[in-house]
Amino acid sequence: EKGGYEHFMLKEIYEQPNVIKDTYRGRLLANKGIVQMAGIEDNIEKFLNAERIIIVACGTSWHAGLVAEYIFEEFARIPVEVEYASEFRYRNPIINPKDVVIAISQSGETADTLAAIKLAKEKGAFVFGVCNVVGSSISRETHAGAYTHAGPEIGVASTKAFTTQITILTMISLRLAKAKGTMSNSDFHRYLQELEAIPEKVAEALATNDIAKTIASIYKDAPNCLYLGRGYNFPVALEGALKLKEISYIHAEGYPAAEMKHGPIALIDEKMPVIVIAPKQGHYDKVVSNIQEIKSRSGKIIAVVTKGDTQVKKLADHVIEIPDTAEALTPLLTTIPLQLLSYHIAVMRGCNVDQPRNLAKSVTVE
Ligand code: F6R
Repeated sequence: EKGGYEHFMLKEIYEQPNVIKDTYRGRLLANKGIVQMAGIEDNIEKFLNAERIIIVACGTSWHAGLVAEYIFEEFARIPVEVEYASEFRYRNPIINPKDVVIAISQSGETADTLAAIKLAKEKGAFVFGVCNVVGSSISRETHAGAYTHAGPEIGVASTKAFTTQITILTMISLRLAKAKGTMSNSDFHRYLQELEAIPEKVAEALATNDIAKTIASIYKDAPNCLYLGRGYNFPVALEGALKLKEISYIHAEGYPAAEMKHGPIALIDEKMPVIVIAPKQGHYDKVVSNIQEIKSRSGKIIAVVTKGDTQVKKLADHVIEIPDTAEALTPLLTTIPLQLLSYHIAVMRGCNVDQPRNLAKSVTVE
């Protein structure tokens, strides 16, 4: 059942090239310049007239929502707010009929997300679901939606759900960018090609498994860990930290790299591993100077970089190389070594990777 893998989590990490393809199959036809999804086509006016998109979700799905915020705003120029479902629903939120609410949920059963959807519907918003489990409560409660088609996710730590959610949300952004004319034709076609090529690049990123394992063996006993990223990769830093804490029980925090000097830098000493996401596009020089700040305080630097990088290599204690892609798609690749790193650390610490203590796969209580 685990397909020869020791844990469901590892199996699901390795399934990502295939399930991302399943997510875009029939929806993305790069050579024809087509990106389409029934749930979007049927409701295109709602999206085109949206004055705002509100994304509601919890946990890893909320992180996918944060990545989508950057993508929607850049591609389709629609203002986006990303809300923890549990906070949104209890604070008398302002919701207008011209808001489109997107609820993201792997299980489709998360109680707070479901309640947020009901509230948004009562206030007249159009609610669109991005779910993995077909026929789930959230998929039934939303007005329309798009499934991620990632297949069953058994490991409690979400992996393939995250990357397929980002894939769907990227496709929606591209579809809206096309309709709104907010992206140049050449960028549009380039993004379709790049997205179609992502599964092969995810497969390449999986080849970082050995180096991830080596790094895991060095830092497995660290009591704390910091994850830093900027722009599209800030949410990946949050997700990397969540993955580590939930399965290895190491305290970890994710931060936008520039926020470090507003507090977290005080934590850095020679015992603190800092994982920095530093692909070559997207504020690269700024991230390099953040790396220098860590180095001058003797922090241990583990950097995720684009293949061929030379600058970060000179500064970091360890580098993990991922293939090059368009900036907005980098989260689909940078997240892979972080999943592997948490996995190996948890295994080496003897943790129950697929069923971490205190956690449930579907959080159906509030
Ligand atoms: C993290 C994790 C949780 C879920 C969260 C939302 O690895 O699994 O944080 O992401 O409980 O679950 P869904 O997406 O099912 O609504």
